[in-house]
Amino acid sequence: MAAKLLKGAEVAKEIRAALKEEVDELKAKHNVIPGLVTILVGEDPASESYVRAKQKTAHELGFHSIQDNQPADLDEEALLALIDKYNKDPEIHGILVQLPLPKHIDDQKVLLSIDPDKDVDGFHPTNVGKLLIGNPYYSPCTPFGIQELLARSGAPVEGAEVVVVGRSNIVGKPIAAMLMQKGPAANATVTVVHTRTKDVAFHTKRADILVVAAGVPEYIKGDMIKPGAVIIDVGVNEVGRTEEGKRILKGDVAFDEALEVASAITPVPGGVGPMTITMLMKNTVHACKVHNKIK
Ligand code: GUN
Repeated sequence: MAAKLLKGAEVAKEIRAALKEEVDELKAKHNVIPGLVTILVGEDPASESYVRAKQKTAHELGFHSIQDNQPADLDEEALLALIDKYNKDPEIHGILVQLPLPKHIDDQKVLLSIDPDKDVDGFHPTNVGKLLIGNPYYSPCTPFGIQELLARSGAPVEGAEVVVVGRSNIVGKPIAAMLMQKGPAANATVTVVHTRTKDVAFHTKRADILVVAAGVPEYIKGDMIKPGAVIIDVGVNEVGRTEEGKRILKGDVAFDEALEVASAITPVPGGVGPMTITMLMKNTVHACKVHNKIK
């Protein structure tokens, strides 16, 4: 039987509808508007497309939203000064610097310069530390979206063997930390595999829940999946363009093969991606409420 599709796009829509009500109430009752700035340095087409999608959603929700585009040769000092400006701007509650940054800029230095209270990406070391000790302030958006999707899918996470493929700071490490914590949609036994793992398939074949953030198109084949597993495919790989110039996207999992083996799988696109954007909006509403001391 073909696997059930975990349609993040539909779940995201529901969450956004609830967020819209919250934003309307913040305006009506408290006269405050969540403010989000997304900073993009350079012209990477994939980053441009992600940032556009984030801004579109922010506008739809009625946020005060700013898209700040900077040239690829912007120097580090100028970027730090820009972040400092938004750190001090009372109308901005969330600051997102789209990654990756050009090579001449030290991304850790940049992330460290964002006020942790405005770090809606959850990438500041203070927020990473809070997440790791089980006291999250802002959860990083993609792992937050994955956990929400798992919670709503009804797949048991507690006690599950979870295998995470990839050890990035954006997805692999934080999702491993979140799913191993005590709490709802967590309490899992987590294994992380990466480029230096000796036998990746040995591990993936044991996974009740397989989270794949490898950045390699169709890396996980059907014979690397345990029958009945739940598959979360974080990959967004552009493998070509249509005649009209639209991007053709593939995940990190061979989708057609996985459909025959897994019990549930996120499609690409329409799976994890929309959840990431929606959790960014949720974090920004949270930031606005904390800033304005609204419960
Ligand atoms: N690049 C890829 N994913 C992300 C993300 O979640 N946040 C930021 N800032 N950059 C990214």
